[in-house]
Parts: sequence; structure tokens; C-alpha cells
Amino acid sequence: MSSVQVIKSPAAMSAWSEAARARGERIAFVPTMGALHAGHLSLLAAARAHGERVALSIFVNPTQFGPNEDLARYPRDLAGDLAKAAAAGTDVAFVPAVPDMYPPGAQTVVEVREVSQGLCGDRRPGHFAGVATVVCKLFGIVRPHVALFGEKDFQQLAVVRRMVADLSLPVAVVGCPTLREPDGLAMSSRNVYLSPAERARAVAVFRGLSAARERFRAGERRAEILAEVALTDIAAAVDRVDYVEVRDADSLRPIAHLEQPAVILAAVFLGTTRLIDNMRLP
Ligand code: PAJ
Repeated sequence: MSSVQVIKSPAAMSAWSEAARARGERIAFVPTMGALHAGHLSLLAAARAHGERVALSIFVNPTQFGPNEDLARYPRDLAGDLAKAAAAGTDVAFVPAVPDMYPPGAQTVVEVREVSQGLCGDRRPGHFAGVATVVCKLFGIVRPHVALFGEKDFQQLAVVRRMVADLSLPVAVVGCPTLREPDGLAMSSRNVYLSPAERARAVAVFRGLSAARERFRAGERRAEILAEVALTDIAAAVDRVDYVEVRDADSLRPIAHLEQPAVILAAVFLGTTRLIDNMRLP
């Protein structure tokens, strides 16, 4: 098994990319916050098909966490991550320190307006500005041809697509399907926070979204009814529902009646752990 080259400095990362580009190689990039699971590894596997070189970043980005969120306890396992990344065929891991990404004096924030509003944007003020800013910076440092993101974080993917279009960034964004546990729970770095009892209840999110999709397949087109179907299963099992909403799959605008591709999205709390998931309709 070949090992992954670890690069910590932004300048060295950019130099690596320029050398690859000079050789005519395409760079496919998977940004992460580490604690890699099979969902992340599926993005790295997909990346192989998009370039001769696969770059991964591992950076727990402080600017996308709210003051009462889990930044301090976010799971970290660099040695484990590098072993998994190597097995997935990753060439280089960019692992910057916080001061390298946010040197003193920085003043610029990337704010994607409309797509960042509602859903997680309302519940996590500043979150998507933190995501957009760090992804924009990572693109500038890593200089990939292609970047892969999971549909698991559906609103994040929409924000990144909008940013890339609005700022004319020379990166092709590829969305990848959500990887799930055998019982349907969407894989997430945050699943490790769940107690065994919470883990058992967490599958209700998948069950609720699946029930809504079944009702859609049976012909129901009213967004309110579809959300209610999902909510019935979900609210019975979790400790708090942040939202269950049906949205237009492209713009993420609210819709009343499903005449175009849509998505149903949910965010819940089990204890202090916040989980999100979504499903496309159809
Ligand atoms: P993180 O939560 O580590 O996720 C990194 C990438 O893995 C994201 O594109 C996410 O959508 C994808 N992913 C997570 N769970 C997945 C699953 N079950 N199936 C498929 N893909 C999955 O998302 C972030 O980090 C950060 O916000 C980041 C984009 C790196 C910016 O800091």
C-alpha cells in the first residue's frame, strides 16, 4: 500500500499542484474535516475517475462552527485518516494548521446569499459563510480541476455550486450520492457521538424520509403532506426536530406543489447531537 504525502503549508500545497499541472495531470480534490468514514472514502474513490492525482484536505474549519457547537470535541484521528486515505488511493493530504488558513489581518468572507438562507442556514448563523470562505480558499491553494462533495450535505453542495458559478472559479463541482449504514442511517463523522440507544432511534430519520418518498411515488405532490409523512416517523423517535422541509432540488426555494425535481431535507437532535439527511423526490 503506497502512503499519502502529507503537506502542511499552503505554499507547498500550491507548488505540488503546479508541478502536477505542468505534467499535464488533472487534480481531483475532496475537502473534508477528517474523521474519515466510508462516505468520505466513496468520494475519494469517485475522485480517481476524475483525475490522475487525488488530493484530500483535512481541516476542522473553526469559522463554520457556531459558539455553542462541537468544534472543541469534533472527532480527530489523523493517523487513522491517512491510513484510510492511502488505501483509497489518495496521492496527497493537505493538513493545514488554523493560523495558516486564517493569518491575522484577514478581512474577506465569501457569502452566498439566498441558497444559504433557510434550513441549516437559519439554525446555524454564519455556518455557510464559513464553509464558502474555506472552500474558496482551499480551491485557491489546492488548485484542483474537479472537486467532489457529498449530497449528504445538500445545502452545502448547493452553496458551493452557486459560489463557483458566481465567482467564475475554474473548478468543476461533482455531487456524489449519500453512503448509508446497513439500516439506512446516513454515514456522518458525528454518528460517533450517539449512545447505543440514540443510534437505534436515529434510523427514524431515514425511515421518515423513505416514507415520504414512497408517498411521492404513490402520487402525492403536495409538499406539506410529504413533509408531514416524514415528520410523523421522525418526531416520534428523536429528541428535537430542527426542520423537515420539501424544497426545489436546484434553487432550494420552498415549493408547495412538486412539479419539478425536489428534495426533502431533515435536521434533528438526538441528545446534543445534531444530524442531517435528505432524499431526492423522485
Ligand atoms: P465533512 O463533514 O468532513 O464532509 C466532507 C465531504 O464528505 C462533504 O462533501 C460531505 O458531503 C461528504 N460526506 C459526508 N458524509 C457523507 C456520506 N454519508 N456519503 C457521502 N458523502 C458524505 O462537509 C464538510 O466536511 C465541510 O463543511 C467542508 C466542505 C470540508 C468545509 O469545511
